[in-house]
Amino acid sequence: MAATAEAHPNIAFIKYWGNRNPALNLPANPSLSMNLAALRTVTTVSFDPDLAQDEVEINGERVEGRAYQRVVAHLDRVRALAGRRERARVVSRNDFPTGAGLASSASAFAALTLAAVAAAGLTLSEAALSALARLGSGSAARSIPAGFVEWQTGERHEASFARSIAPPDYWALADVIAIVEQAHKPVTSRQGHQLAPTSPFQEARVATAPARLAACKRALLARDFTALAPILEQDTLMMHAVMMTSTPSLFYWTGETVTIIRAVRCWREGGLPVAFTIDAGPNVHCICPAEVAGEVEGRLWELPGVREVLVSGVGGAARLIEQEPRGAAP
Ligand code: DP6
Repeated sequence: MAATAEAHPNIAFIKYWGNRNPALNLPANPSLSMNLAALRTVTTVSFDPDLAQDEVEINGERVEGRAYQRVVAHLDRVRALAGRRERARVVSRNDFPTGAGLASSASAFAALTLAAVAAAGLTLSEAALSALARLGSGSAARSIPAGFVEWQTGERHEASFARSIAPPDYWALADVIAIVEQAHKPVTSRQGHQLAPTSPFQEARVATAPARLAACKRALLARDFTALAPILEQDTLMMHAVMMTSTPSLFYWTGETVTIIRAVRCWREGGLPVAFTIDAGPNVHCICPAEVAGEVEGRLWELPGVREVLVSGVGGAARLIEQEPRGAAP
């Protein structure tokens, strides 16, 4: 009745922004991402017949309010699937700097899904786990499979899941993350997805996403960084153009973000293979071949306003690390 799972967050090369079906998190467009090995969420779920209500602890603190309700709603989905009624204790920890402005909902809901499903005694396929994780947080669908991952939109719940297109060791890429702001984002992605259709650019972004994804996948499978770099940057700029032009307007960048964007482009023109991508926040993810990650990190530290730099390689699938009462998981 208890299980512990770990999952990595992922960084999208082709972004998910906006939902066709907000209740089911069926995305407006397909997306493609890389799991981040150096960042990890570990979550234990224990179903306990003596509990009157679910208890949720994240990074050593008892959680209430909206975050709590989101976890309870997810546990309810698992209870419904398993035909169980017991309440659960959830203890989750991120082993990356908290409040570093890094998205943790992907690894959080991937680890929660896997641990809750195992603790409830269910066995689900990877596709079913990914679809279930999606209901908790869209991008969590992509933190279930290993390495480089594609999430096709799917017309209905069962068909909207992510799958691995290449294992972690397929291409030694790194994400060198420049942290410029550690505060939590003022507008959550959840609210942002709802605003996406108010931008006149969203339609164009969604219409052209499948072609960008196909080009990104080709570059990835060919390990062609020169082809990959402009696609990453164009896709990220298209998402931010949608954000900036939605009503109300979302503007996640700071002056430091722009400084890093310009620096990365200048470095690339000078021969260093590196490209930027940015999520719903001001921090800049610099994607590069692992062999130049040290060089990119060193250059980032020299830029004004860079408070922290994290370096990660390509991560594996979400996995069970412990299960009771059946003993350790394989
Ligand atoms: C900008 O998956 O965080 O990171 O479904 O509301 O949890 P919810 O949204 P979330 O959105 C991710 C948005 C993004 C782009 C991406 O990761 O594809």
